[in-house]
Amino acid sequence: MNTQALIDTAQAMVAEGKGLLAMDESTGTIHKRFASVGIAQTQEARHAWRDLLASTPGLNASISGAILFDETLRQQRPDGTPLVSLLTAAGIIPGIKVDLGAKPLAGHPGETVTEGLDGLRARLATYVDLGARFAKWRAVLNIGDGRPTRTGIEANAHALARYAALCQEAGLVPIVEPEVLMDGDHSLERCRVVTEEVLHRVFGQLHAQGVLFEGMVLKPNMVVPGLGCATQDSDEAVADATLQSLLRAVPAAVAGITFLSGGQSDELATARLNAMNRRFRSVSAQPPWPLSFSFGRALQHPALAAWAGNAANHDAAQQALLHRAHCNHAAVLGEYKA
Ligand code: 13P
Repeated sequence: MNTQALIDTAQAMVAEGKGLLAMDESTGTIHKRFASVGIAQTQEARHAWRDLLASTPGLNASISGAILFDETLRQQRPDGTPLVSLLTAAGIIPGIKVDLGAKPLAGHPGETVTEGLDGLRARLATYVDLGARFAKWRAVLNIGDGRPTRTGIEANAHALARYAALCQEAGLVPIVEPEVLMDGDHSLERCRVVTEEVLHRVFGQLHAQGVLFEGMVLKPNMVVPGLGCATQDSDEAVADATLQSLLRAVPAAVAGITFLSGGQSDELATARLNAMNRRFRSVSAQPPWPLSFSFGRALQHPALAAWAGNAANHDAAQQALLHRAHCNHAAVLGEYKA
């Protein structure tokens, strides 16, 4: 294992003011997003969309890396250039989603465990050959009647750590993503308790399985009230609850934290990230780890709506993506103004 190379890549992923563009939707998920704005659900549209995102001029001012789906890691531009080469030439590090999705956890109604460990070592070797330098695996936990259970949390934490150890063995920086969903009517406080518990279990497993914290990136949910909760807390309350969980459960050695957006509106996700970074600026302190973004929907959605599958809107869509990327760059610095 080349420890220094892992550390260098992890640090480059959270270089000052920069974050990640998550564009790794599975085919089913991207088709749902296309359908929501009336775009045809075809391979041609998928290729055109991912080419548009990856070729946005100036994206590397605020984006350090892009998480791709298997299909996109293998995609070529109309002139035959691999999309990966385009990204790398622009100073954007290519990454790859390697999990195979959350599947029902036997004996635990309503809970899932993420699959994809069988044969993962061989798949990772292929992805390294194709140019990936980091990987992503998403575990999904939901809050509800008695959920998540201890078993549900442990099963997902164990799988995340097995994936992370395999990635580091292959020379890929693992993004460890335990997502506590926003669905439900639970309070901010309940989300905080669950998130903190999940993070403790995940880091226990990462430690037990020998994962190098300096060579990994954590991609957590922000601590937010459920979408159906009557009380929707302020950005400051969300920032405080999120920071409290992270400070209690995440070792300072971890290279960086890049939040998922999880269905928050693009502006809310940015404002909350900004509120967290402002907390530190206001006391002239540094957080133990860079607090950045790895947004999917919150970066892509305005651009997707602007594009609408129409080539005539290509440049306007790229401008919409650049705008969100710049807003999030400002939020990482604690300088975002809505
Ligand atoms: P969202 O920001 O849309 O939640 O997507 C991030 C991601 O990569 C989910 O795995």
